[in-house]
Amino acid sequence: CGIVGFVSSFSPSASDHDALDVVMGGLARLEYRGYDSAGVALVPGDGTLVSRKKSGKLANLTELIEQDPMPQAMTGIGHTRWATHGGPTDRNAHPHLADGGKLALIHNGIIENFAQLKEHLLAEGVEFTSETDTEVAAHQLAKNYRVTEDLTEAMRLLVGQIEGAFTLLAVHADLPGVVVAARRNSPLVIGLGEGENFLGSDVAAFIDHSRKAVEIGQDQIVTITPTSVDIIDAAGAPVAGEPYDVTWDAASAEKGGFPSFMDKEIHDQPQAVADTLLGRMDPSGRLVLDEMRIDESLLKSIDKIIVIACGTAAYAGQVAKYAIEHWCRIPVEVELAHEFRYRDPIVTEKTLVVAISQSGETMDTIMAVRHARQQGAKVIAICNTFGSTIPRESDAALYTHAGPEIAVASTKAFLSQIVACYLLGLYLAQLRGNKFQDEIRMILGELQQIPAKIQRILDETAQQVTDLAIAQKDTESVLFLGRHVGYPVAMEGALKLKELAYIHAEGFAAGELKHGPIALIDEGKLVFIVVPSKRGRDSLHAKVVSNIQEVRARGARTVVIAEEGDEEVRAYASDVIYVPASPTLMAPLLTTVPLQIFAMELATVKGLDVDQPRNLAKSVTVE
Ligand code: G6P
Repeated sequence: CGIVGFVSSFSPSASDHDALDVVMGGLARLEYRGYDSAGVALVPGDGTLVSRKKSGKLANLTELIEQDPMPQAMTGIGHTRWATHGGPTDRNAHPHLADGGKLALIHNGIIENFAQLKEHLLAEGVEFTSETDTEVAAHQLAKNYRVTEDLTEAMRLLVGQIEGAFTLLAVHADLPGVVVAARRNSPLVIGLGEGENFLGSDVAAFIDHSRKAVEIGQDQIVTITPTSVDIIDAAGAPVAGEPYDVTWDAASAEKGGFPSFMDKEIHDQPQAVADTLLGRMDPSGRLVLDEMRIDESLLKSIDKIIVIACGTAAYAGQVAKYAIEHWCRIPVEVELAHEFRYRDPIVTEKTLVVAISQSGETMDTIMAVRHARQQGAKVIAICNTFGSTIPRESDAALYTHAGPEIAVASTKAFLSQIVACYLLGLYLAQLRGNKFQDEIRMILGELQQIPAKIQRILDETAQQVTDLAIAQKDTESVLFLGRHVGYPVAMEGALKLKELAYIHAEGFAAGELKHGPIALIDEGKLVFIVVPSKRGRDSLHAKVVSNIQEVRARGARTVVIAEEGDEEVRAYASDVIYVPASPTLMAPLLTTVPLQIFAMELATVKGLDVDQPRNLAKSVTVE
C-alpha cells in the first residue's frame, strides 16, 4: 500500500500547502503500490476530522471529493490500498476511524493477531464497520489514547500489542499539526521540509516537495509537527534520525531507485515471500488458513487435485505438484487452463481444483474455474489481487501477499505462488493427518529462512549474473535443464528469457535431453543447468551432473546453478552460480532468482523495455 502524511504551518490557501493537494499528489505518485481503493483524512483544526474514501483507482476518490468537497487543512494523511484483509470495498478502504470519528488510522502490512485483539474489543462493546485488521488497530489505538492522553505514547503501546508487519499513520481531530507513525517490517520514511514535514511509504510520496529524508528503524515511533520530528524506540527512548539527500528523480523514486519495476520487483522478493507467510500460524504453531472456507470434511475426502493456471503461474503449479504429492499423498495434475477447459477433463466432487493467477483476471483461467465448478469440483484460488474475478468465483481463496506487480513478466508473484501452494499442501497434510505437527513446523521453519537466502543471492550473486548476461548479449538461443522441482524452474527461466529478451529459449527435463533436445547442442550453445542439492536425493544430483557432462562434451557453454558447497559441479561448468543451501523442495525459491536476473540483464543490455515487453499484456482478459 502507499502512504502519505503531511503537516504544515503555512496557510492552506497558499499554493502547494493545502493538505488535500499535497496528500493527493503523493498518492498519485504512490499508485503503483496499490490501486484497489484510496482514502484521505484531514484535520482542519476546528476540532473535527474529515475523511473520504472510495474503492477503485485514485480517480474515483478524486471524483468523490469533487462531489463532496473537503475543507482546507494543514494536516492530512492518505492511503492507496492493495487489499490483504477484506475485499476492496468502500468500507474496507482506509482511513479507518475510531474514537467517535475523531481518530483516523491508515496502515500498510498485515496484523497477525488482529483476531485476538478484535475479540477483546468486541467484548468491550466496540462496533466494527469493516472486515480489516486495520480497523482493529484503530480502535486499539483509540483505547490506548483514552488511557495515555498522548497519541505518541498510545502508538508506542500499540506497537507492543500488535504482531506482524505494519506501517501505521494516525491523526486526531484534537491534535491539528500532528501526525504519529510507527513501523515494523514495512517501509516508512520522513521527508523534511521548512515549516512542514512529510511521511511516506517511500520517498515518491513527497518527492515533489522535499529531497531530504530520514529512514525510520524497526519498531520506531515518529511524531511530526510542522517544525519538529521526534523519533523514539519501542522502549520510549529518543532516537536520532540520520537525514540523507534523495538524489533520485521522481520517476525512479517510484521504482525505489531501481531502473525498472522488474528490477524493483525482483528485489521485493524477500519481502513478498515473508509477507505471504505472515499470519498463517496460530499461537500453538498450527497452520491456519482463515480464508479457507471449504468444509474440512470435504477437504479430507478429496482424491485428486488439479492445478489450473497460465504462464508463470502454471510453472508455480508444477513446482507445487512435487511438494503436495510428497506431503499429502494426493495425486496432483497441473494443466494449462485453456487446455483443461476444452478437453472434457475428469472432475468429480472429490476433485479439488486450485486456480493460480496473479491478476485474478486471466480469462483462460476464469473459464476453467467456471468449467470445474460446473462439474461439481471445489475451487481454491491462489491469487495476488483481492476481490478480482477468480477468487470471487472460487469457493475459497488463499492470497499471495506480493503487493502489486507492475512489470508485465511475473517475478515476485511466482515465488509467492509457490509459497502459497506450499501452505495449502501443508494445510491439507495437517488436516488429513499425513504429516506430524512437528514436521509441518520444521518445513514452515525452512520456509521462514527463504527471504534471507533470497536476499543473499541479490546481494552476493546478482553482479556475477549481470556480467554473464552482458557477455552473452549476442546469444540467439539458450537451453535450460532441470530435474524434479528444477524442471519447472528451467521452464520458467526459459520463459523469462523469451518474454524479456526475445531470445529463443527452451526448458527441458534434464532426463529428456538424450531423447531429442541433445541434437540442439552445438559448439558454444548456452545451457543453464539447475542442479539439485546433493544432500537431498543423491542419485538425482549424480544424474544431473552426468547431464552437464553430456552437453559439455558436445561443446556447450554450461552455466550451472548449484548449492553452495557443491564443488563437484565445478569440473564441468563454464560458470557456476551458487545459491544458499536449502532442502530440495525449497530450492526453486532460490534457483529461480538468478534466472530472472539473467533475463532482465540480457534484455537491458540489448536496450529493451523490461517492464513492458512487446506483444505481451500483464493480464490477458481474452480467451
Ligand atoms: C500473462 C502474463 C504472464 C502471466 C500470465 C498469467 O501471459 O504476461 O506473465 O504469467 O499472464 O497471469 P496471471 O495473472 O493469471 O497469473
